[in-house]
Amino acid sequence: MEACIFDLDGVIVDTARFHFLAWKRLAAELGIKLTEQYNEKLKGVSRLDSLNFILELKQITLSTEEKVQLADKKNAWFVEYIHSMSPRDIYPGVLELLAKLKSENIKVGLASSSKNARIVLAQLGISEEFEVIVDGTMITNTKPHPEIFLKTALLLNTPPARCLVIEDAAAGVAAAKAAGMGCIGIGNNLILNQADLVVGNMAELSWTVLNQIMQRR
Ligand code: BG6
Ligand code: MG
Repeated sequence: MEACIFDLDGVIVDTARFHFLAWKRLAAELGIKLTEQYNEKLKGVSRLDSLNFILELKQITLSTEEKVQLADKKNAWFVEYIHSMSPRDIYPGVLELLAKLKSENIKVGLASSSKNARIVLAQLGISEEFEVIVDGTMITNTKPHPEIFLKTALLLNTPPARCLVIEDAAAGVAAAKAAGMGCIGIGNNLILNQADLVVGNMAELSWTVLNQIMQRR
């Protein structure tokens, strides 16, 4: 392993919950009940793709302007929710893993579909931990397309096969695999079954586990 690439929402911090809350609120206004199960489809994909998944539930057709208005509304709620975040919200195990990667000279990148990624990192006080940050403003195709991970690997000057991705979304795991990278899923084994390994949370990840995964490939 030469580089480790982190997803943000749901991997470093529980912002996946805020995305869900904001989408649920918007869906309710449209008379749609957004379940946690259906929300899995929204994880890792772009804001507009997420909205389209919600609209599909009731076969609602809207103009681009109407969609932009709804997506803006959801985003305003999301930004409001994340304003209360602080370094204390970083998931247990994340800072320890970042420190270990640094001490082992592993390059560290961040690849998030979110256009708010830099705001979240700043709130958490960890922007400087990543050599390269690729966010939703820098890509044309969002996960499950491999573009974001390939771009991060390129900027880290590392071949994709020597990168390990940490992801909580099915779309993110699919993107990492399509990029030819190793991938650890954080969450549910049944949802993230394309990953090389799935663990329940970040605190379960150790340097030994990361290395085993990369050697096994
Ligand atoms: C991803 C989240 O990180 O970013 C998705 O998993 C979200 O749920 C996507 O839709 C886009 O985020 P934003 O902040 O640009 O709306
Ligand atoms: Mg995520």
